[in-house]
Amino acid sequence: MASVEASGTFAIGGDLTVHRLGFGAMRITGPGIWGDPPDREKAKATLRAVPGLGIDLIDTADSYGPFVSEDLIRETLYPYEGLVIATKGGLTRHGPDIWQPVGNPDYLRQCVLMSLRRLGLERIDLWQLHRIGPDCPREVQFEAIARMREEGLIRHVGLSEVSVEDIEAAQKFFPVASVQNRYNLVDRTSEAVLTHCERHGIGFIPWAPLDKGSLAGPGSALESIAGRLGASGSAVALAWLLKRSPVMLPIPGTGDPRHLAENAAGATLTLSEEDFAVLDRAGHEAWQGAGA
Ligand SMILES: NC(=O)c1ccc[n+]([C@@H]2O[C@H](COP(=O)([O-])OP(=O)(O)OC[C@H]3O[C@@H](n4cnc5c(N)ncnc54)[C@H](OP(=O)(O)O)[C@@H]3O)[C@@H](O)[C@H]2O)c1
Repeated sequence: MASVEASGTFAIGGDLTVHRLGFGAMRITGPGIWGDPPDREKAKATLRAVPGLGIDLIDTADSYGPFVSEDLIRETLYPYEGLVIATKGGLTRHGPDIWQPVGNPDYLRQCVLMSLRRLGLERIDLWQLHRIGPDCPREVQFEAIARMREEGLIRHVGLSEVSVEDIEAAQKFFPVASVQNRYNLVDRTSEAVLTHCERHGIGFIPWAPLDKGSLAGPGSALESIAGRLGASGSAVALAWLLKRSPVMLPIPGTGDPRHLAENAAGATLTLSEEDFAVLDRAGHEAWQGAGA
């Protein structure tokens, strides 16, 4: 069975070492990332298979469900031996597919305290601000997070969907250990942020690494190259990401144990320089063609 050990390691914040290929736990909830998953046992089986594949970075958020993803992680994997549970806060939920950012410091504190309680932890290894809220200055939000880090509620801080300028502003309050922006073969919007992360040793966690599934499975744009390499489209998309940068920490999301194993195989697939370049060009063209 594929083990993601072949993806190598990255030390988040300099001391939290994980294998570079992780798992995104947003897909173990209901449609619209709302409520319970349609098949709870399948979702739990997916989680249970994670450690066996060598995956030790699980990305979640209080807003997935809301609460469902964190609750299932606790129910299935507590006490998380050897696992880093990275969670997020700062997005409120009012229904399926509705995500409303709130940056009020009292709310952010509530997010952290309730994630600690749901996950059964005394400290969160990596807590990420899901979005900088529009309701108060970002500095007020960063200051509140810095205080929770000083109190020991959070070990490392990450940001999500931010610019280089946001990262630099946050660095005045705490070391930014990771950045989670949308990035994949066919979405290069965050290229400048990735370069910044690489220069400063910040972990870059690309969300939607499979372009929400369009790069995986039969019929994907990667099917022909995947066929030649004897791999799945998802493995090719993830192998490309892993080769793209040593700070890249992809977190493919799935609620299906078979897909989980297929995605883990991305860590063992080594792309030649030539295949990497071909994919890179094709992905870039697709991105520009889509109106980047
Ligand atoms: N920071 C943010 O704002 C943000 C936003 C969105 C997501 N995230 C995080 O990033 C993670 C990844 O993003 P994502 O889940 O939206 O997108 P993704 O990983 O690009 O794709 C997930 C989709 O692809 C399907 N899939 C996965 N593996 C497959 C395979 N081997 N074959 C066929 N289909 C496959 C999944 O369906 P099945 O369940 O059927 O496998 C799911 O619909 C999330 O889980 C979450 O942790 C963060």
